[in-house]
Amino acid sequence: MRLKDRTAIITGAASGIGAATARLFVAEGARVTLVDRDAAGVTALAAELGGHARPFVAEVTDEAQARTCVEQCGTVDVLVTAAGISLGKPALDTSLTDWNTVQAVNVTGTFLWIRECLRPMTANGRGSIVTIASQLARAGGRGNAAYVTSKGAVVALTKSVALDYVDKGIRCNTVLPGATDTPLLRRSFGRQPDPDAARARSLARHPMGRFGDVRDIASAALYLASDESAFVTGVELPVDGGWLAG
Ligand SMILES: NC(=O)c1ccc[n+]([C@@H]2O[C@H](COP(=O)([O-])OP(=O)(O)OC[C@H]3O[C@@H](n4cnc5c(N)ncnc54)[C@H](O)[C@@H]3O)[C@@H](O)[C@H]2O)c1
Repeated sequence: MRLKDRTAIITGAASGIGAATARLFVAEGARVTLVDRDAAGVTALAAELGGHARPFVAEVTDEAQARTCVEQCGTVDVLVTAAGISLGKPALDTSLTDWNTVQAVNVTGTFLWIRECLRPMTANGRGSIVTIASQLARAGGRGNAAYVTSKGAVVALTKSVALDYVDKGIRCNTVLPGATDTPLLRRSFGRQPDPDAARARSLARHPMGRFGDVRDIASAALYLASDESAFVTGVELPVDGGWLAG
């Protein structure tokens, strides 16, 4: 078991990549706090995972809730920040409210949970932080200006934290998923005038000819969370079926 008796917090744990990561971490011996604004989702997942997981209903943008959650956990060995949203609009169609909403959830919601978890991690002299960015942070992407920008910021934040806390025994890395079959991806295609054509275009960008499975991303998060990656910090790990190689 690669996370035996480790304490982990996962944001965005009610769905998609966050939920798959929670399932894998529990199978690998971790005790997991499931953070999400979807109360029914985290409650159901906690019940499925038995005594190894507890739900914590929160908006990731809420500083007080982040602090309370981390204080309740006491020790935090691992943080995975998977909460995220995508509105799918080019710049001209992006209102200031759209822009601020995406940056608040994807960037501020990542920053706040990292900052709160750094308190117990620095006190304990160890910790692994795994952020979830996107291959679009590196490649760019059409029709999603606020989202792509936010993922670039997540990569930059990850590297800053990696350097600032390396001497405290803390590692910080990011996963760059390619298009991964989750409700977020399905909603993204559903917003397009021709969802099937959008899906086919996206699929064609993946040399492996398939979308990511949530377990592909969870496995990368497990590697970065565990001691197997003890000499790894500040990296962007693409898990994208070859997208960035093309
Ligand atoms: N699915 C993909 O193709 C893909 C590709 C690259 C990156 N990502 C990133 O992976 C992460 C997970 O995405 P997913 O595809 O699993 O999405 P998802 O929509 O299936 O899950 C996201 C979860 O985050 C939660 N959430 C959203 N806003 C929140 C908030 N303000 N407070 C608390 N919880 C909130 C949602 O309730 C949901 O449970 C996101 O950061 C996303 O940008 C996804």
